[in-house]
Amino acid sequence: MQQDVITIAIDGPAASGKGTLARRIAQRYGLNHLDTGLSYRAVAKALLDAGQPLEDEEAAVAAAKAVDLSKADPEVLSANEIGEAASKVAVISAVRRVLVEKQRAFAQTPPGAVLDGRDIGTVVCPDADVKIYLTADAKVRAERRWREIVAKGGNVEFAAILADIEQRDRRDMNRVDSPLKPADDAHLLDSSKMDIDSAFLAACGIIDNALASR
Ligand code: DC
Repeated sequence: MQQDVITIAIDGPAASGKGTLARRIAQRYGLNHLDTGLSYRAVAKALLDAGQPLEDEEAAVAAAKAVDLSKADPEVLSANEIGEAASKVAVISAVRRVLVEKQRAFAQTPPGAVLDGRDIGTVVCPDADVKIYLTADAKVRAERRWREIVAKGGNVEFAAILADIEQRDRRDMNRVDSPLKPADDAHLLDSSKMDIDSAFLAACGIIDNALASR
């Protein structure tokens, strides 16, 4: 990365808490924040709204080109079925190429950014100053997601959430292009037994160390 911008990559599986962690890190270090999952979700929603199949490469690429990173609305895009559909359009290499280019441009904007996703440390920003791979046991992630939904008055079976998360992990980790995996130089952070405050403190320790030797 250029010396005048700071890039922090946070990767991890669905419901690992990387979005919350990335937002807090961005605030703490005065950096921009990009949730890259939202760009894949925006493409999926455009296809669903237009009644087009998620495998329609031409339509998906057109939707990817139309994505405005600054306008992807987390509220509108948060539904579970959009996440599931996003994981399906994310296997299309031509879609990834379009979105990765936009994500890299965002990362280069001073003073730099915290990007969270699946392939930030491996593909989008391989030269990031700090890379964190945040994970947690699938059952722990499913329980956190389940509690979130129930707290909002939703009614859903824990087993269904767990099955969704396991299926999404399989798809994201096994796709041919840019599969979810830790970069060789990523710091692994397993939050199975941590709350978000402890994960944040651990991440800040890793980041402070890395930036001090920059
Ligand atoms: O992080 P999320 O749940 O919003 O991501 C939704 C899907 O988008 C995820 O299952 C796979 C895809 N995705 C990706 O392939 N690469 C990224 N950098 C971010 C998300």
